[in-house]
Amino acid sequence: MPTLPLSKARAGMVLAADAESLDGNYRLEAGLELSDGHLRLLRGWHVAAIDVKNDDASPPAPSRDAPEAAILERFAHLPADEPVVAALRRLALDRAATLPPPPPCPIPSAKAATPAALAPERILANDPVLVSLPEVFMRIREVLSDPDSTVEEAAAVIGKDPSLTAKLLKLVNSAFYARTMRVSGGLPPGAVDSLSRAVMLLGLNQLSTLAMGVSVLPLFKDIPPECIDMRQFWRHSVAVGLVAKLLASRLGDPSPERFFVAGLLHDIGRLVLYKQQPAASAAALARAAATGRLLVDVEREMFGFDHGKLGGMLLRKWRFPESLEQAVWRHHDPLGGEVPLEPALICVADMIAGATLSGGSGERLTPRFLPEVWRIAAISPGELPELVVMAESHLDVVCAMFA
Ligand SMILES: [Fe+2]
Ligand SMILES: [Fe+2]
Repeated sequence: MPTLPLSKARAGMVLAADAESLDGNYRLEAGLELSDGHLRLLRGWHVAAIDVKNDDASPPAPSRDAPEAAILERFAHLPADEPVVAALRRLALDRAATLPPPPPCPIPSAKAATPAALAPERILANDPVLVSLPEVFMRIREVLSDPDSTVEEAAAVIGKDPSLTAKLLKLVNSAFYARTMRVSGGLPPGAVDSLSRAVMLLGLNQLSTLAMGVSVLPLFKDIPPECIDMRQFWRHSVAVGLVAKLLASRLGDPSPERFFVAGLLHDIGRLVLYKQQPAASAAALARAAATGRLLVDVEREMFGFDHGKLGGMLLRKWRFPESLEQAVWRHHDPLGGEVPLEPALICVADMIAGATLSGGSGERLTPRFLPEVWRIAAISPGELPELVVMAESHLDVVCAMFA
């Protein structure tokens, strides 16, 4: 039973003894064949060495059918003969090679007691970072709530944060924005090189909403890697934002930017949970993986609320516009609120992106199919391939802006 420094461990080796995180909250069990994902987890747990059965193992040859089988598993809980589900499954199978397998799931140790019910208010109140917002955020909020604000004032407020300004200008100059603005006849030739020009093009309200959404992202930089790969998390968030904005534009919505921001922030409640309650979150991820159930259902069962509600409460606390708060709060239950349009488009975008685009926030399955919600989004199965290709073509570029 050789003991190996983690740097020498390779995929395909089999653990001879349990490997635990330093704090004892997470462990991988003896007998497990290590994948690259497991090795990433162990590095994130700062494990120095592991006991393996076979230190000469070579990585197993990937089975040709493995990606297809993994995708079919992600659709197993959905009605197979429903045209939308069939179309999404076909699209997912077509892109099987580009969709990574579900991440390995940490097994919470016995020490990670699961609280019967956490109070979302307490979780939000306990995080000092979440209660102190960036200065620029609060100033933008003031500008947004003042009907007499001018373009120059908004540009001056946002311009005080150079990193935010750079991100916004890159975003507005990206091909995704160029296309949507060209369609609406709003994009003149040449680059958008100043904030005032960006405000004039997008409108004060839309650029400010975008700036508010982007300005809170740095608050979630220090999430421990045990539960979630942050690159994959933001990739999923951006993918949902891109799809939601395309869906809103198709419906002729005059301010589709809020749908991009709602998509960007829709699973932010999960980040709060991963940050504030890592052991309970690991337990929920493990239970969902072991039982083949949706993570959102397991959250409701274990915590008494889901990540949508927690994220919505956070946005309410930050006094985001109510439509954004509701889109995030209700994205797994769009018909439970008063105005279903925003949450419905996020719900549909989450299902499309979750099924066909890379990235993920911890959910291993394709989100639930809600026929009434798809009727609100008014998109047919035949229109899905073009929509997915469109969102996918901008995903890398937009993700790179948030890196
Ligand atoms: Fe979600
Ligand atoms: Fe999601």
